[in-house]
Amino acid sequence: MRQDSLYDDSPSSSRVPRSEQERLAQLKSQIRHHDYLYYVKDRPEISDGEYDRLFRELGDLERAYPELTTPDSPTQRVGAPPLDELGKVQHERPMLSLDSLVESDEVLAFDQRMKRELGTDKIEYTVEPKFDGLSVEMIYDHGTFVRGSTRGDGNVGEDITINLRTIRSLPLQLQAGTYPDHLVVRGEVYMRLSDFHALNRRMTERGNDVFANPRNAAAGSLRQLDSQITASRPLVVTCYEVMAMTGIYPPSHWAELEMLALCGLPVPNLRRRCETIDLVLAFHRETEDQRDNLPYEIDGVVVKVDRRDWQARLGMKSRSPRWAIAFKFPPRKEITEVQDIVISVGRTGILTPLALLKPVEVGGVTISRATLHNADEVARKDIRMGDTVRVERAGDVIPAIAERIPVSNQVRSGPFQMPHHCPICGSAVAREGAYFYCTGQAVCPAQLKGAIEHFASKTALNIEGLGKKTVAQLVDQGLVKNLSDLYRLDREQLLKLQGFAERSATLLLDAIARSKTVPLDRLLMGLGIRQVGQHIAKVLAKEFGSLDAIMAADRNQFQEIREIGPEISESLISYFQESSNRQVIDQLHELGFSIVGTPSPQNRRALPFSGKSFVFTGGLERLTRDDAKALVEQLGATVSSSVSKRTGYVVAGTDPGSKLDQAQELGVTVIDEKTFLDWIGQQKES
Ligand code: IVH
Repeated sequence: MRQDSLYDDSPSSSRVPRSEQERLAQLKSQIRHHDYLYYVKDRPEISDGEYDRLFRELGDLERAYPELTTPDSPTQRVGAPPLDELGKVQHERPMLSLDSLVESDEVLAFDQRMKRELGTDKIEYTVEPKFDGLSVEMIYDHGTFVRGSTRGDGNVGEDITINLRTIRSLPLQLQAGTYPDHLVVRGEVYMRLSDFHALNRRMTERGNDVFANPRNAAAGSLRQLDSQITASRPLVVTCYEVMAMTGIYPPSHWAELEMLALCGLPVPNLRRRCETIDLVLAFHRETEDQRDNLPYEIDGVVVKVDRRDWQARLGMKSRSPRWAIAFKFPPRKEITEVQDIVISVGRTGILTPLALLKPVEVGGVTISRATLHNADEVARKDIRMGDTVRVERAGDVIPAIAERIPVSNQVRSGPFQMPHHCPICGSAVAREGAYFYCTGQAVCPAQLKGAIEHFASKTALNIEGLGKKTVAQLVDQGLVKNLSDLYRLDREQLLKLQGFAERSATLLLDAIARSKTVPLDRLLMGLGIRQVGQHIAKVLAKEFGSLDAIMAADRNQFQEIREIGPEISESLISYFQESSNRQVIDQLHELGFSIVGTPSPQNRRALPFSGKSFVFTGGLERLTRDDAKALVEQLGATVSSSVSKRTGYVVAGTDPGSKLDQAQELGVTVIDEKTFLDWIGQQKES
């Protein structure tokens, strides 16, 4: 009741119908909930499409009634104008650092010291990963995120509130009913490895300097004067410390993390409460074994005396608490020698210098090559054949050279120079900004192989069984000279390839045939147009709805789309201007390609499948589940995992499960795979 009268009295919202106000509040809380499931819990419950629809609806409502747009709205994560400089923030409590230990003996000694000082022989520790990112402070007042800052010198940091607001895993509003009135929390902002590598690829393609490691990338992204830049960088945050709060503190660090999690804040998933120091050592070992499989960089574990009253008794030294330590992993940097610098040619023709190294073990993995990214990078670091260098491994991919180590009295070879001709096909090398590329295109076997591998990859046409080795043979034997040639391959040709027998040939031919029915965005992505990755392909598919419309579009039409700037639109225009590219697309059409477009929001409602939901049960033979899902979604329908009265159709494949029985009980229409595919086919033709 109180809320109702509040709304009615409010002058700013008097013109807004009650139903719209309610819908807006509902949308905000739904989006907040799905953000939490997606970014914090890693367990989304709705498709990206459904999420986008909610988000768009909220945006539309807020545009119609700007007075209802509040700062905690999910639409308000970006929007602040660029700053001239970052302001200063005095921390409420000093942001301490941690003493680092590397040897188990030192950790045992730490445990002994704690026991002595506390006069006990039993201490519980909470142990969690030591994230390799940037330490930040976040303040929530009455559950609303009000300010965030960097650590700075520990007492005074920089105000990065508007940048932190762009991080999706950071709630702008804590979960109702569970939070202290005032909460100061500390956490780490970092970048996941896959996002870091994708960012560096984008930077290279745009001729910008790359980041040396995910930590630098996170730091460079967070301390931006323009929060739009931060928003475009995929940062995440994890919270690991309450620095101050009103009310009664939880009794232990473990309970503190649980409280933060209840508030909806992301906390370390890998945490463990250890009853003895031996269990701490075991956690350290296990975590180190997992290190290469983690999606983010960690450089050790943090060991904290669990009980809060004990933490208080132990107190702090000048810059670090006495009750916690960083138990680090051995560094993954080593020194070695550059034996040669060679050039690799990628699918877009870009020449990348690679250092061949004297093999060296870095953190348990033998490293014999390192990427040098581009010519500018080689020049900046001044790396030459024969130099002594420090290599750094960030995750499971090709390591990078951190720096050259000058050796006195060493006679160095001449500076590295990019070749004038492609080392693979001999075509001329052209330069565009920081990168050099081979002008040979499809003539260059390296580019052709790369283009086909990309076309066949999981996120593009998803042709199972068409891996690197097969592609290399197909190109080297002249069987495939462009993408459309894949669809002309026959059994005899495949049987002549190494590693192929009747069964594998049949499987590959089937997979190739299946790939002819493809959602537009996947095809766009597969064509390998420079700057057009998964995301942009989806945007284009959504905006234009068909390949013909994209091919007919001009620069202005592309640039009207928010996420498409001059570089991408230039790349699209030049790709579709090239006659050989148009030819390949024509040939794909002739070969019976069925490209399923994405309906635009306006005509989505007009689709025959719109408002219908599908449930799949049992195995599909001609399609993967993911593809089937993508197809029905593009026709306006949704896919759900369980059968209810509202289910439109159940598609029953081989060995259907209990969902088939449920469908029959509820009287839901059941169709088989063939009927399903016929429907899709009819839809495409109509
Ligand atoms: S606790 C008073 N926990 O490590 C305790 N720090 O070398 C304050 N860090 O500057 C820190 N993961 O940026 C803590 N789980 C974690 C951490 C962590 C990473 C960073 C933090 C700090 C540095 C100390």
